[in-house]
Amino acid sequence: MSNQLNHRWHQFATGVVVGTVVLGFACVTRVQAQSIQVTDVSSGDVTRGWRIFHEKECVDCHAIWDQGGHVGPDLGRSRTGQLSAGQLAGVMWNHIPKMLGQIEETGHAPSTLSRDEMNELFSLIFFVRQLDEQGNPRRGEQILRNKGCTECHSVDTSEGGVGPDLAKWGKYANPIVWAQMMWEHAPLMEEAMRRSDMVWPKLEGSDLVHIVAYVRSAGVSGEKNYLHPGSVANGQQLFLDKACNQCHPARAAGSSGSATGPDLSKANLPTSVGALASRMWNHSPAMTKIMREKNVERRPINPQELADILAYILALGHLDDEGDALKGEQIFAQKGCIQCHEREGVANAIAPAVAQLSGHATPVGMAATMWNHGASMLEQMTEAGLSWPVFNDKEMVDLLAYLRTLNSATGARGVSSQGETPQTGKGD
Ligand code: HEC
Ligand code: HEC
Ligand code: HEC
Ligand code: HEC
Repeated sequence: MSNQLNHRWHQFATGVVVGTVVLGFACVTRVQAQSIQVTDVSSGDVTRGWRIFHEKECVDCHAIWDQGGHVGPDLGRSRTGQLSAGQLAGVMWNHIPKMLGQIEETGHAPSTLSRDEMNELFSLIFFVRQLDEQGNPRRGEQILRNKGCTECHSVDTSEGGVGPDLAKWGKYANPIVWAQMMWEHAPLMEEAMRRSDMVWPKLEGSDLVHIVAYVRSAGVSGEKNYLHPGSVANGQQLFLDKACNQCHPARAAGSSGSATGPDLSKANLPTSVGALASRMWNHSPAMTKIMREKNVERRPINPQELADILAYILALGHLDDEGDALKGEQIFAQKGCIQCHEREGVANAIAPAVAQLSGHATPVGMAATMWNHGASMLEQMTEAGLSWPVFNDKEMVDLLAYLRTLNSATGARGVSSQGETPQTGKGD
């Protein structure tokens, strides 16, 4: 296992790397304006995703942080981990022909993927992008000094300070644990800072990760303390339990809340756990102030709870917009889908009728179906002289919105009345 990979997993994992990670990083899709629905499967398990990544031989062509093949892009580094679920489905769709070509060339047997398996793979792809880079102890030392933390805290020295010595926290490798401790102690720290006329120090980007690296390098050994990677579903519940929704209009969590704080599904938040934890620290004074004014009690949060909450907030970053079903219907025609997928089932049709496609109208569902049926679809397209349609930006999201309006039980029912569908012939 490469050093990079090993290190990053170890922010969470225990003993055998990835072996015992229990992760509930769900693949979420915003289906309705009012609530988040965790689609398909409530939680994709990253450990299983990792196993599938190997079993299905993705790893022969794709590396994750340098570990694995280099025929396709390194999924730890490519932009895929930052896309919305619907966009990721679009990307998977686009790459089908090239991927199939490579599979043939390299003599791989084409594999099939169930929806669950694709869900785990989505979770893995999102998760790897959320882990932080390896911290640099020397930078951590500088940051502690520059931010004024050392005014009050020592690290394994006899010099006492107003605050506790931080050395004993070296056993925690995970920035979440640090963020939790800092969150927990923020009110008293704030007071201490006010007394010494200090401005609340803001942490940026990987600052917290470097601080952790430094304190750990100060040589404290001890029992290692690990977290399970966060569970999105638990995080969503905790968002309510800890009263976060009282200020954050998390439509997600089903609150009607007054919007004192930013909507976290729209805020421009960092995409790594460590950097997100730093954001929470930065905003602590503002939150405390409002909480006092509004008489909201500051409820304690333990490290695992914070891991869950952060996983939930990060998952918001992969939510799709609702999608424009009307546009999706146009896309269905423009990309040439309609040439083979008829509105009404035709007895001798080579392709399933359009209504049947609604069963695949989630990002994971579409990606899995394409993985399994892409080859024969590609064959049909090549025969018909059509080129493989490519989805850009939000086109897949709109297409999925359209397909969801179809109901196979009642027959094809588009968003516009039948027959009006623009038909532009060949796909682009
Ligand atoms: C035989 C080689 C091969 C195998 C096996 C393979 N891929 Fe790929 N994959 C590729 C190539 C080549 C590309 C780039 C295609 C392109 O640029 O159009 C790609 C692209 C991708 C992309 C888009 C990445 C990006 O940044 O644009 C994703 C996601 C992906 N593959 C996932 C998977 C998964 C998941 C599996 C296993 C289930 C898998 N691939 C198996 C060769 C492969
Ligand atoms: C003005 C003094 C002061 C400054 C500056 C300060 N802290 Fe603290 N810190 C404290 C005090 C006092 C406590 C204990 C608060 C309590 O018991 O709730 C504390 C507690 C902590 C704890 C929990 C430690 C434990 O053993 O419970 C951590 C972690 C921490 N601070 C990190 C930091 C970091 C990182 C910085 C710089 C970004 C910083 N502190 C800046 C005064 C300070
Ligand atoms: C009493 C109101 C209030 C409560 C309760 C509250 N927040 Fe906040 N939160 C705010 C405000 C106001 C801001 C913006 C603060 C600022 O700009 O400094 C904020 C900012 C944030 C940010 C950073 C957003 C950004 O754009 O950088 C995160 C993340 C966050 N809150 C998470 C939470 C979580 C998780 C909880 C529950 C544990 C919570 N908040 C509870 C009021 C609140
Ligand atoms: C050249 C004809 C052709 C075109 C064009 C075409 N398809 Fe298909 N499609 C097929 C065939 C044939 C199958 C059945 C493949 C199989 O069963 O293995 C299929 C299967 C599917 C399935 C899986 C259906 C199921 O129930 O298993 C989906 C989803 C799908 N196509 C979506 C699309 C979309 C979206 C487009 C337009 C971007 C499109 N297709 C364009 C021929 C086509």
